[in-house]
Amino acid sequence: MAKLLTVSRAAHLIGVTRADMQKHIASGALPSHDGMVSTEDLLKVFPTVQLEDSGAFERITKIREEAFGRRIRERVLPNQEVLAQRLAAQSEELEDVRRHLAHYHDLIEALRERIEGMAHASASEQLADLGEFLDSGLAGVLASDEPSDTLAIMNDMLSVMSAHVTVKPSGHEFFVEGNETILKASLRAGLAPSYGCGNGNCGLCKARVVSGQLKQVHHTDYPLSASERTQGYALLCSHTAVSDLVIEMLEATSPADIPEQEIVAKVRSVTPLSADIMMLHLQTPRTNRLRFLAGQSLTLSVTGSIANFRGDYPIASCPCDDRNLLFHIRRNDDDEFARRVFAGALLPNHAVSLFGPFGDFVLRKDSTNDISFVVCDTGFAPIKSLIEHAVASDMPGTLRLLWAATCADGHYLENQCRSWADALDTFSYATLDAADPQAAGMAAAQHLLAEGDFVSRDIYVVGPAAFVSALQGALIGAGLPAQQLIVEVI
Ligand code: FES
Repeated sequence: MAKLLTVSRAAHLIGVTRADMQKHIASGALPSHDGMVSTEDLLKVFPTVQLEDSGAFERITKIREEAFGRRIRERVLPNQEVLAQRLAAQSEELEDVRRHLAHYHDLIEALRERIEGMAHASASEQLADLGEFLDSGLAGVLASDEPSDTLAIMNDMLSVMSAHVTVKPSGHEFFVEGNETILKASLRAGLAPSYGCGNGNCGLCKARVVSGQLKQVHHTDYPLSASERTQGYALLCSHTAVSDLVIEMLEATSPADIPEQEIVAKVRSVTPLSADIMMLHLQTPRTNRLRFLAGQSLTLSVTGSIANFRGDYPIASCPCDDRNLLFHIRRNDDDEFARRVFAGALLPNHAVSLFGPFGDFVLRKDSTNDISFVVCDTGFAPIKSLIEHAVASDMPGTLRLLWAATCADGHYLENQCRSWADALDTFSYATLDAADPQAAGMAAAQHLLAEGDFVSRDIYVVGPAAFVSALQGALIGAGLPAQQLIVEVI
């Protein structure tokens, strides 16, 4: 019998994005019943899918290849107790199916005996025929060599390795892999859950479990009240999912939902990306992580006996990694923070205070339009964060990046763009060089106008003021609806 799967789970099994799966549903090629699709219909639409091709199988193969050391095994695979509980849940389901099958078998046997007992009735020949029919039917069921449902088997394997979580009221879905916490899994999936310390102390990640089973994997000091426990509340930062879950969880829907924070981070490294761009890598304490939305900025402040300096910079990393924060610092003699960085004033383990996050240059998740990102120079930093977040969130539509540079080595992370383009069918990028930001803005506008479809896209623009205003004027003048243009001056 075909099994019903959620759209996320089906996409995960087939190895396509959720957006691709939705396209098949919208076109009518793949029937959907209450947000579920059947393995039978899936195999009609993806007839060539094999166990070996699926993302689940690849993951298991990868795990097997990597699982050579205890440390790795503990990180990637669920711990033995979680695995045992998931297997127990699977066995219960299997046992249930077996019990039902046995009942059907008994029922058919009883029916056959009854029919035999009626053999002397006037319609004895018909009844004998019926008896034979049941005999051969039963023999057929028992000797059935019907091919097994590949997707159902893959789904069973996936259920052991990962648990599916549905969030209320948003309807967002994600998977908890191995032994990771539910909080970490939700961040990895591009969600913006409510949380604070990430460490079991503040209680901000408290959520109500509507159905499913959890297991505590990290110590927590936060005391849930007896009534909260009775209602099913748990801390997402200290629990993993043993079975598929439905939870009620608070999520940020705009920058206004993200509180201002003050954190003292440490310098991990300062690495040149080109002659004029440095990458600053800061790490927050394990017990005090930064909650932010992709595209937001921070004030970085250094206070010391020799010098105090500070600067505002967009975060160039994904909110899914809330401890490791990256910044692209451009050489600029008018910016004291940049001058100090290039003079070697920041060394590993130096303390840097973080204030923020601030800014509303964030993804419009309610839009289903295709997206173009248009950046100049280090405007790439917040866009990198947005692209990583859009990919993690499995946003529908295509992503295009146009990167204008006004200095030598200006496309300082082109390798990163190339690897996105190689890995993602929905991502493409182009670069251009220009003498200054205004010329870059005009050249970028010409490029977008030549593409022809810019009026149907959401366009995120970031760069110096001259770049942004040149582009803004040209695009709005050419008919781009103002609400589809999201700009940030850096
Ligand atoms: S985030 Fe603080 S207790 Fe979970």
